Amino acid sequence: MDVVKNAWEIQSEEQALLALAGHDTPEEFERDRRYHAGEIARLCSITKESRGFEIGSGEGTVAKILASQCLFLDCNDISSSFLERARTNCAQHKNVAFHKIESNYLDYLPEASYDFGYALHVFIHFNPYDIFNYLQSVKRLLKPGARFFFDAYTLGEQTIASFREHAELYRKAPESIRGYLNFNHPRLVRAIVQEVGLDLSDSSELSESGWMRVLVTKKSDAKGKIIWPFRR
Ligand SMILES: C[S@@+](CC[C@H](N)C(=O)[O-])C[C@H]1O[C@@H](n2cnc3c(N)ncnc32)[C@H](O)[C@@H]1O
Repeated sequence: MDVVKNAWEIQSEEQALLALAGHDTPEEFERDRRYHAGEIARLCSITKESRGFEIGSGEGTVAKILASQCLFLDCNDISSSFLERARTNCAQHKNVAFHKIESNYLDYLPEASYDFGYALHVFIHFNPYDIFNYLQSVKRLLKPGARFFFDAYTLGEQTIASFREHAELYRKAPESIRGYLNFNHPRLVRAIVQEVGLDLSDSSELSESGWMRVLVTKKSDAKGKIIWPFRR
């Protein structure tokens, strides 16, 4: 394989829906994102004072829902075409900014500045190196005690059909590997979270059936902690 393509640039409505939602209808897609936006708001305790960031914002569907519930949201994606669609979709929300990820993950965002972060249906495409490097960025960006939500895939009864389908896609076009699903065992996800030095919340679901939902917290004694000047 000579070239690994950026598999996330899209040219049509159909391609966008397929990339975002697989075989779901637009209605199922909308319902799914609405449900997960609620889950993220609850798990990350989002309030009107919260500043957050999103990794892999797609068309900005979740950002549009959460924008009215938080203070500010920085949306990040590797795809120029998805960022363009997200900008249009969120145009009425002045508290959302969009950034193109070029290299070095999220190094351009300010350290210890965020009350929450999330990536929905994005880490399901990542290999262990991307999971590790993004979680290192997450740790740098979060304020001590702040939370980050992501989901991931392992091979189980919920995901075996998708695995077969993507194995076939890979056979035909291996250069698009970064657009396919990636299957990572819960033990591996747990080990990476530990290696990065984030706390795994009890609300996480690291099941072997297929879908994983992971909530991590930046330790309160982590680098960047505010030392209160008034302590005696
Ligand atoms: C399945 S879509 C999900 C989009 C959105 N989070 C949602 O739930 O509707 C995956 C998104 O992740 C982005 N993405 C893929 N690989 C990425 C990477 N390595 N870094 C950042 N974003 C990535 C894609 O461009 C796309 O917007």
